[in-house]
Parts: sequence; structure tokens; C-alpha cells
Amino acid sequence: MNGVNLSVRSGEKIAIMGENGAGKTTLIKHINGLLKPTRGEVKVLGYDTKKTPVSLLARHVGLVLQNPDHQLFAETVEEEIAFALRNFGYPDDIVKKRVEWALNVMDLARYRRTSPFLLSGGERKRVAIASILSYDPEIVIFDEPTTGQDYLQKQKIAQILNLLSLQGKTIIVVTHDIEFAAENFERIVVLSRGTIVADGRPEDVFSDIDAIRKARLLPPQITACAIELQKHYPQINVKTISVDGLCQQILKLVNPFLSS
Ligand SMILES: Nc1ncnc2c1ncn2[C@@H]1O[C@H](COP(=O)(O)OP(=O)(O)OP(=O)(O)O)[C@@H](O)[C@H]1O
Ligand SMILES: [Mg+2]
Repeated sequence: MNGVNLSVRSGEKIAIMGENGAGKTTLIKHINGLLKPTRGEVKVLGYDTKKTPVSLLARHVGLVLQNPDHQLFAETVEEEIAFALRNFGYPDDIVKKRVEWALNVMDLARYRRTSPFLLSGGERKRVAIASILSYDPEIVIFDEPTTGQDYLQKQKIAQILNLLSLQGKTIIVVTHDIEFAAENFERIVVLSRGTIVADGRPEDVFSDIDAIRKARLLPPQITACAIELQKHYPQINVKTISVDGLCQQILKLVNPFLSS
């Protein structure tokens, strides 16, 4: 990665997108100190990651890796979730309470005594998410959380992200799922070949066709629809990411006297 200058404010909720090999995973591994910059610096909550032990950063930055198998190792789901809590020195009663909460939030209670390795790919990913949520880090980073999740679980992940956002957490999610990104994030950062090619509100970024193409993305269907319509009706605003927004515009086109 080269010349990447990204600053994320406390409490922001951002999605990082870009083609395979763009550098998304590399970038987020710098935030919890798993990777250290060879040039430049990374500051997280005021800590310089080069001078801060990963164990300290891990307390503040919860990272769910792209492949959950790289972070699961305990014999049961329950022990997996309890591990970090014990490591951080929480007393037994708090560990028990938090494990229970995380099991329920991630819909895993029935698997508490099952080995994580006997679970499906989507379930394993949820175990990895649960083990991070249990210790309540201020910064939550998920690398492709929706991969392998069915529609219901994807909606649940979106709800959890909303909940974490309401609690004031900083949320960074890497995703290839453009509809998920359009529906759930206020800021989108697009990486391509190790550099940032777009950074802004989803309606601005997803209508920036050059940046989208560079990162081998397709715009959300609603934006694509608005772009097509605009070729015939220049008054259509292509910075549209919601069905409702586009419907309002079409209705106005059909009946210009409509008030809203
Ligand atoms: N440990 C490493 N050593 C050397 N090169 C690496 C290492 N890890 C990743 N790379 C290279 O860095 C580039 C970016 O990889 P990265 O894993 O960050 O991509 P990504 O954007 O997360 O892609 P994907 O969408 O496939 O997950 C790739 O070209 C990859 O081959
Ligand atoms: Mg990756």
C-alpha cells in the first residue's frame, strides 16, 4: 500500500470496498497492529501502533478476520467466546454474563457446547463476531461479515452494526456487497491497487462511475437505474441509493405537480 491517507473519526461507521487484492485486509490489519507500517504512521485512539503492543490495541480494537478459521481454536463455542474475556482479566461472573449475551445476540446459544469446527462457515463467522462483541471494544472491524450469511443473518448483522453505532462505537466493515454497503453505511472508502480512489457518502461514491469501475464494482441496482434514466431524463439525480428516493423522482417526472 502506498500513499494511503485515511482518517476515521470516533463513532463513524464506514465500509471499505474494492477489488480482490486491492489492499482492504492489509489496511484494516494495520488498525489493530497485526501489521505495522514500514513507512508513515498509524495512530489509533492516540496510540502509535508501531510503539504499542498488539495485546493493548486488541483490548480497544476488535477485528473479525475474513477467514474465521484463522481466529478460532477453542473446543467449544462457549469457551471460544470466553477466551478473550478471561485474557483481559474479567471475573468469572462477568465472563458468564457476557458469554450468554453474545451467544444470544449472534443466535448461537444452541451450539454453546459444540466445537466451532463442526459448525457451518456462516455459523463459524458468527462465533468469531460473538467473541469480539463479548468484550465490547470501542472500535469494531469486520472483514467481510456477510460472506456466507443467509438473508436473515445478514439483516441481523446490519441490526448489530446499527446497535453498535448507537452505542457510539467506531465501525469499519470490509465488504464486497454493494447493496449492503449502500443500505447500512454513511461513508464508503473505495480502494484500488493499494490506494484510495473514492471516499465519501454512498450516494456520491456509487454514482462516481470511474472510481466504481476501477475497483471492479457494479453500482447498486437503484443507482444503475437512475444512471440509465438520466440518459433520457436529464433532471434525474443519479446520486440515488434508495428505492424510495428513485420512486419519488419518477413520480415527479410523471406528475410534475406532485408536491413531494
Ligand atoms: N503477508 C503478505 N505478504 C506479501 N503480500 C501480501 C501479504 N498479504 C497480502 N499481500 C498482497 O497484498 C495485496 C493486498 O492483499 P489484501 O489481502 O489486503 O487484499 P484484499 O483487498 O483484502 O482482497 P480480497 O477482496 O481478495 O480479500 C495482494 O496483492 C496480496 O497478494
Ligand atoms: Mg481481504
